[in-house]
Amino acid sequence: MSEMQNNVKIQVEDFSLEYSDGVESLRSITLPIFENQINVWLGPSGGGKSSLLRTLNRLNDLTDVKTVSGRVLLDGVDILSPETDVIALRRKVGMVFSRPVSLPMSIRENITYGLELAGERSKTKMEETVERCLHQAALWDEVKDRLDSSANALSGGQKQRLCLARSLATEPEVILLDEPTSGLDPVSTLKVEDSLQKLKEDYTIVLVPHSIQQGGRTADYCAFFLQGELVEHLPGKQMFTNPQKKETADYIEGRFG
Ligand SMILES: Nc1ncnc2c1ncn2[C@@H]1O[C@H](COP(=O)(O)OP(=O)(O)OP(=O)(O)O)[C@@H](O)[C@H]1O
Ligand SMILES: [Mg+2]
Repeated sequence: MSEMQNNVKIQVEDFSLEYSDGVESLRSITLPIFENQINVWLGPSGGGKSSLLRTLNRLNDLTDVKTVSGRVLLDGVDILSPETDVIALRRKVGMVFSRPVSLPMSIRENITYGLELAGERSKTKMEETVERCLHQAALWDEVKDRLDSSANALSGGQKQRLCLARSLATEPEVILLDEPTSGLDPVSTLKVEDSLQKLKEDYTIVLVPHSIQQGGRTADYCAFFLQGELVEHLPGKQMFTNPQKKETADYIEGRFG
């Protein structure tokens, strides 16, 4: 597959970020994120993966950032511009965190909550959304008979898929996943990975995997980050079998990180 055939959904251009305590977290990153693909970001701790992920839906606005430079183009429009409607951006670019936070309400309400906040009143629309999102997150079969019981009773893996389902309710275009399966057992992990394979047909996915193996299983494209720099960006297959840079090979073969 050549990059020519891939649609760029988000283009990160010469992007740098420095935190207020003087930590330079990202240096001059240029990186495309391809539409309807699983874009995996890999690298040792502190490399800047979460910082860049947060940038894509402007969550870094809430942290102590000193300087930011460069551009992040979503469908060609710079989301870093002061004119960006950040609420609308976050609806378009959803985020799932590594600790599943289910809200203290029913399974159904966990999904409709965001829609209600957005002013949705139609019962039919709500019901359709609950079913669609639970199917997409590969959770429907396990919870369809207990939609009105408390989400707290779900297992960790089910909660994580519920968070995924919730992020789909407001119909985002891009889903950001920061180590979404850390702390899950292997069976739940594979279920989440399976649902990502289905989701990429409709969404653009950026995944920071919780292990190198997960990266290898899921990546259509893979970027390797090391200490704030992008070392290389390759099709997933090539990245995990024949990386071009020594640092990447060392990391993938488990020599550091
Ligand atoms: N809110 C913050 N304030 C100050 N420095 C931060 C903040 N968040 C991250 N950093 C620093 O920025 C650098 C990159 O951190 P980041 O969390 O983006 O890395 P990461 O690749 O996601 O690491 P990990 O694999 O451990 O999650 C680190 O040096 C980190 O200490
Ligand atoms: Mg991180």
